[in-house]
Amino acid sequence: MASTSGAAQVLVASNRGPVSYQVRDDGSLHAKRGGGGLVSGLSAIGPDAGALWVCSALGDGDREAVRRGIGEDGVRMLDIPAEVHSDAYNGIANSVLWFVHHMLYQTPLEPVFDAEFRRQWASYETYNRAFAEALAAEAAEGAAVIVQDYHLVLVPGMLRELRPDLRIGHFSHTPWAPPEYFRMLPDDIARAVLRGMLGADRLGFLTRRWADAFTACCEAFAGGVGDTRIGVHGLGADADFLRRRAHEADVEERMTALRAEIGEGRKAIVRVDRTELSKNIVRGLLAYRQLLADHPEWRERVAHVAFAYPSRQDLAVYRDYTAEVQRLAAEINDEYGTADWTPVVLHVKDDFARSLAAYRLADVALVNPIRDGMNLVAKEVPVVSDQGCALVLSREAGAHEELGEDAVTVNPYDIVGTADALHRALTMPLSERAERTKRLTDAATALPPAQWFLDQLTALTGQRGG
Ligand code: G6P
Repeated sequence: MASTSGAAQVLVASNRGPVSYQVRDDGSLHAKRGGGGLVSGLSAIGPDAGALWVCSALGDGDREAVRRGIGEDGVRMLDIPAEVHSDAYNGIANSVLWFVHHMLYQTPLEPVFDAEFRRQWASYETYNRAFAEALAAEAAEGAAVIVQDYHLVLVPGMLRELRPDLRIGHFSHTPWAPPEYFRMLPDDIARAVLRGMLGADRLGFLTRRWADAFTACCEAFAGGVGDTRIGVHGLGADADFLRRRAHEADVEERMTALRAEIGEGRKAIVRVDRTELSKNIVRGLLAYRQLLADHPEWRERVAHVAFAYPSRQDLAVYRDYTAEVQRLAAEINDEYGTADWTPVVLHVKDDFARSLAAYRLADVALVNPIRDGMNLVAKEVPVVSDQGCALVLSREAGAHEELGEDAVTVNPYDIVGTADALHRALTMPLSERAERTKRLTDAATALPPAQWFLDQLTALTGQRGG
């Protein structure tokens, strides 16, 4: 199982870990491994070299694994009481901090910082403390710890008190709110968030814009960043993995099926997202409808392939959003569909192989979040695209800082502007598309996950000033 207590040299802490368990009908446990930047990043070090990943047990399968003492080398799952986890994850992390950083609140109904919020905040503290205590117990003298994301912003400060010898880093995968928005949090909570983060030696962000917003919040509400160093690490796509995976047999099969759904000879506008309010899927559908209205020549000649995978379904606002996406897609299909043309091909069941198939087939990729830490889809599509793909990209996605020059840029709130951008992307000459795709691929793969992680580690453990 996990490495011996007090022996880990490099630790990562995150809510969601690299593996999850499901209880099978016969009572046995099935382990499912996840992907993503951190997984490849940390695998560059591995358990043999003293790397340990501390994460939450999520769901019954994970909890059962912890109870039975089943686990993977280099992973320690914390069995935090389900109610505490739900308050911290659904209540504070996903309904408050996520909403603040993505500027998602809709007045006059939200936000409401009432007694229930205070109760959930106490659970968030308990949840963060459980991580800090586990890390303190597992870390070797002088070890490096990199805490991940908005679920765990109090951990650096708590861990600093428990273990002043450690090198503590924190990395934010989200945007950071500007001070005028951040200040809607109650003052004591805003200060607790910033002070918790400032317990770290070094903080990492995906773009300069988010790092600057954090610094501005600290200047406004916490007397500055003090001795904490701040760095920018723009996570890139994992080109080797994607190219290999995208040519396996299951992806080829799905390409055939998808091509049949789109219809031979038609162009494909592809989007792949978690069904997430910040991804702006509804406005994407409205823009596509506008395109069909403004440019009748595209009717029957294009399909919008939209994969909107379920996310955070414990929250009513996410369930409602999924329903709205489905309703609008059906409405567009009723309005414009014909006997052999389905204008919107919507799938909501998560299927990574089918996502890669769509990336390969795409003529246009639509990535229009209203705010996004980075957005890896924007970086992955150019890497695996078969024939070059035009990228319609929101100026509010972190990825825009790196890809903006070769994308068709949109203001994500502007439906008419987005429809116009889709038209420009659809009519882009193939040679131009191919040239842009090549440059997009270079930019998207400039910092592969393993290097992204090692850079942070070096900056954290190396000389000051990094
Ligand atoms: C964002 C967050 C991650 C999170 C992911 C999926 O990218 O920055 O921390 O893991 O969304 O969300 P979930 O709530 O399913 O873990």
